[in-house]
Amino acid sequence: DRTTKIAPSILAADFANFGAECAAVEAQGADWIHVDVMDGHFVPNITFGPATCAAIRPHIKTVMDVHLMIAPVDPYIEAFAEAGADILTAHVEAGPHIHRTLQAIRGAGVKAGIALNPATPASAVEYLLDMVDLVCVMTVNPGFGGQKFIHSQIEKTRQLRAMIGDRPIHIEIDGGITPETAPLMTAAGADVLVAGSAVFKGGSVTNPAPYGDNIRAI
Ligand code: DX5
Ligand code: ZN
Repeated sequence: DRTTKIAPSILAADFANFGAECAAVEAQGADWIHVDVMDGHFVPNITFGPATCAAIRPHIKTVMDVHLMIAPVDPYIEAFAEAGADILTAHVEAGPHIHRTLQAIRGAGVKAGIALNPATPASAVEYLLDMVDLVCVMTVNPGFGGQKFIHSQIEKTRQLRAMIGDRPIHIEIDGGITPETAPLMTAAGADVLVAGSAVFKGGSVTNPAPYGDNIRAI
């Protein structure tokens, strides 16, 4: 489906070769590059921060879509904006002042996204929709790649689609996306699909065969 954007998550790429890995998936048709930032506090895993984003930025021609699985968010917004993020997505569960956080993201000149954990209802973002460019529905519990898709999030995605109406807001799905689960989510109203393990499949620049045909097949 050419109208659906595919955003490979570099969480499943070779961490020692991010530049080459990003270039390879872009050459194979990736629309955005999804960058998973984890702090070992909001989620039980640690990845990387603004310095890594700045290092990979020159290797990315498309949108750098940065998913912040961190709390607090506000002290780091400026650094991620300076690192070249095009979209900064914070979690609605990240703190009591998410409205202020989204103001700060847009204030830094970056597009703003809001992510929802699987247990969080669609209604949690109702009063934030006038300040975001993207809503990210987590279809796994954030923290790790390669987990099983949570089917209850299909109905939540339908609710969000209806709530958003004709506003120009992307619905992004993150977690467990495969050629089998992708059509369920586009039918529910999603237009951006994040895919980590389905794209990279344990590949690397020294073994580039795994990606490529997988990307647009999703
Ligand atoms: C999970 C991350 C996802 C993850 C998706 O915390 O936000 O972006 O990389 O990986 P897969 O596609 O393997 O579920
Ligand atoms: Zn993500």
